[in-house]
Amino acid sequence: MPDLSASLAGIRSPNPFWVASGPPSNTAYQCHRAFEAGWGGLVWKTIGDPTPNVGSRYSALHYHQHRMVGFNNIELISERAPETNFKEIYECKKRWPDRAIVASLMVDTRERWHDFVDRAIDAGADGIELNFGCPHGMCERGMGSAVGQNPDVIEVITSWVMEKAAGKIPVIVKLTPNITQITDAARAASRGGANAISLINTIKSITNVNLDHFTPEPYVNGLSTSGGYCGPAVKPIALHMVQSCASDPQVNLPISGIGGITTWRDAAEFIALGASTVQVCTAIMHYGFRIVQDLIDGLAEYMSSKGFQTLDDFRGRAVPNVTKWENLDLHYKRVAHIDYSRCIGCNLCYIACEDGAYQSIDLVDPASIGLERSPSPIPSKPIPKIRQEDCVGCNLCSLVCPVDGCITMTPVPTNRPPLTWKEYQEQLQAGLIAPIPPHP
Ligand SMILES: Cc1cc2nc3c(=O)[nH]c(=O)nc-3n(C[C@H](O)[C@H](O)[C@H](O)COP(=O)(O)O)c2cc1C
Ligand code: SF4
Ligand code: SF4
Repeated sequence: MPDLSASLAGIRSPNPFWVASGPPSNTAYQCHRAFEAGWGGLVWKTIGDPTPNVGSRYSALHYHQHRMVGFNNIELISERAPETNFKEIYECKKRWPDRAIVASLMVDTRERWHDFVDRAIDAGADGIELNFGCPHGMCERGMGSAVGQNPDVIEVITSWVMEKAAGKIPVIVKLTPNITQITDAARAASRGGANAISLINTIKSITNVNLDHFTPEPYVNGLSTSGGYCGPAVKPIALHMVQSCASDPQVNLPISGIGGITTWRDAAEFIALGASTVQVCTAIMHYGFRIVQDLIDGLAEYMSSKGFQTLDDFRGRAVPNVTKWENLDLHYKRVAHIDYSRCIGCNLCYIACEDGAYQSIDLVDPASIGLERSPSPIPSKPIPKIRQEDCVGCNLCSLVCPVDGCITMTPVPTNRPPLTWKEYQEQLQAGLIAPIPPHP
């Protein structure tokens, strides 16, 4: 069994799976349940001045049979008194010394940040997470994403916190994705002295509009408001932002990855892009704390299959494989290939290529490619055949094909040396090569 233990800026946990700050981390009762289930750490529901919530507060994007592909909330920080939260953190820490408990904080003035840092330290928290990310409600009061969207303010508030916390307790700055350049925010956290960053918090969203009363959900007495989006739909955005921060030398901070993590594979992808730990909220709200066992077993099995002993053996391995577009090889070519033993003859690939891509698939008589009949219920139905000389390798047909492994993208030799956009421009200007001809 590989060693799954994790460390984020010195905050240690027996595995990298932490409960993210949110409804599942609201009380000691839930913290005990989470740790009993096997979670390695937990970031407490953000503590600050207790705020009342509106009742209706969640909505979701359902896509066909999949519920909660995206999840939206207009919930604020903890409704419970800070003294209650800190007392419960103390109790939980006593009972679970080997797990990581991080106090998420959100207050306003320098004095109050100092006070809350002291209280988190007194409660025995292993770390502090600064919630600079909440995109609704708190930002209108000058907190949450009102801070996280302004790098200068991130730097100032982080430095206030570090005045009290430095050398005593690690500080994680939680970033909002509602910003054009995530690295500007991450660099500001670094300049402010943070020990780590976590990302992403939720993305501004409206999930749907009711077409009878014309109010989006969540519905609050005839009105709604933009909320924060999370769940599986946001994972690609989160991965991009984690990669951006992990590859930026001016950030240079350990990362806790958050956003849509539901399976061990999601978690492994965040780790491969540089995350030291991962945090989960929506998947727990959907399926409960028990999912952590699948996360642990799946990650351990994956690591064994690859011969990885520790998380560090593959952490960040994907980071150098993401580069600027201008560094990609213009001469690299791969084309679609259909495995007719798997094809069901739905012809979705043909439609996609014909209407949505580069018209490189023909529909042909099955006999012309050596098949006795179409694999569809209609024996004579034409079957797709890829014209590989015209295929640009865009991947679309393989993405729409409903059968796994039926369309594969196969590299083909071009007998041309690799050529990046930058090299292409240089060689063109030097008159060494002719322009690549435009498509007809
Ligand atoms: C209902 C709800 C409440 C949340 N409350 C907080 C919070 O109090 N503090 C915080 O830092 N993040 C909060 N979050 C954001 C999550 O911690 C997390 O960053 C985000 O949901 C993305 O992760 P996920 O896709 O696993 O849910 C909340 C999220 C949800 C869904
Ligand atoms: S989409 Fe896939 S299964 Fe359907 S016809 Fe094309 S190759 Fe066959
Ligand atoms: S990879 Fe793109 S261009 Fe090639 S056959 Fe598929 S859809 Fe058409």
